[in-house]
Amino acid sequence: MYMNGYRCFACMAEQSAEFAGFQCPVCGGNLDIIYDYSAVAQDFADAGNAEQRDLFRYRSFLPVETPQNPFPLRIGGTPLYRATRLGRQAGLRNLYLKDDSCNPSASLKDRASAVTLCRAIETGASVVSAASTGNAGSSLACLAAALDLKAVIFVPEDAPAAKLTQALSFGARVLAVRGSYDDAYELCLVASEEFGWFNRSTGFNPFTREGKKTCAFEIWEDLERRVPDRVVVASGDGNILSGIWKGWCELKSAGLIDRLPRIDCAQSAASAAITQTVHRLRLNQDQTVDWSHVTVDEVHATTIADSISVDRPRDGLAAVKAVIQSGGEAIAVSDDEILSAVAEMAQFTGVFPEPAAAAPWAAVKQMAGEQSIDKDELVVCIVSGSGLKDVASAAEATDTALVIEPSLDAVRDALYPVLPA
Ligand SMILES: Cc1ncc(COP(=O)(O)O)c(C=O)c1O
Ligand SMILES: [Zn+2]
Repeated sequence: MYMNGYRCFACMAEQSAEFAGFQCPVCGGNLDIIYDYSAVAQDFADAGNAEQRDLFRYRSFLPVETPQNPFPLRIGGTPLYRATRLGRQAGLRNLYLKDDSCNPSASLKDRASAVTLCRAIETGASVVSAASTGNAGSSLACLAAALDLKAVIFVPEDAPAAKLTQALSFGARVLAVRGSYDDAYELCLVASEEFGWFNRSTGFNPFTREGKKTCAFEIWEDLERRVPDRVVVASGDGNILSGIWKGWCELKSAGLIDRLPRIDCAQSAASAAITQTVHRLRLNQDQTVDWSHVTVDEVHATTIADSISVDRPRDGLAAVKAVIQSGGEAIAVSDDEILSAVAEMAQFTGVFPEPAAAAPWAAVKQMAGEQSIDKDELVVCIVSGSGLKDVASAAEATDTALVIEPSLDAVRDALYPVLPA
């Protein structure tokens, strides 16, 4: 393991690898895990794990060891699809989808759960907790079941039924908090502290980002070690986005690539705290940003895309920094555009995203419409969760099934209606 310690995203204070907390002891900011990249690069070159198609293929870049080898579930190693027909809808020639709905609990969150639970086991924890809009919780429950840990999940009361049922089926204790995701988050923080649980909550726990960054490593390898021009990421707390940016930065620090992609943030206009903050900072672009003084906006989120419905982004600073440093765009799309994007992705690619996971395609269309994206750019949209997690929302953008009698005439009438004379 080549982890060197931690660095605060806000005040840049560093802690040694022995530091046991999750937040900066100087200013309370989120912590980034740092490594000795020349050692990482050497180890990655020597690793000889060409056959391994999961996230532990990148163990040289990870701050944990696997408790069991092989890991009991296959996390990562998800497909990268070229989406030619979908891209054509916006005039793009090089569109790809990274389909992370193929993970065991059907979302990208499994990458974070895998690394955080390895860390939990290393620290001797037997109970793990998380606040979640739904996917982080069902993911934690899934991996806890596989690793024989107990999971306590805090979700907002109105989380989609499929996500709750997943978590319950995996045997987690699920607490549906009367209130928003932000209320669930605060309660999970105090309860985990009180009862001594290992808290996997997004943003707060620096190990989640380490799992999510592996998505960038896979894209790079799937593109035969090319760097895309843009990676478009749906954001609520901003942790997937900051993780994916970190992955590209680490490939560069390890000398494996020599340029970086732009990272675009896709949000619903009804939950756009990160987007608003990026636009506010860009208005003052003549000043260099002093990150220790940047505050991230808070909003009252109401989007239908429940996974990205967040009032106060818990990894907002890291995400805002990633968008600005990468030269990416921050885009807010309407909920209607997100729902249309679900159906379009499904119909033009065969990949069925949940609403949050369709936001990147809605954002790409907006950028293409405004000519802020070139038709030849190599663009990767991250499909962060499966459409099966929220069929009620997808149903709003599709026709209903035709109910017919069990007869051939009924089929004919339904599909080949007689034209009026
Ligand atoms: C499917 C999906 N997409 C995107 C996100 C946004 O991730 P983050 O909150 O790290 O920005 C989530 C988070 O729950 C998610 O489940
Ligand atoms: Zn700090």
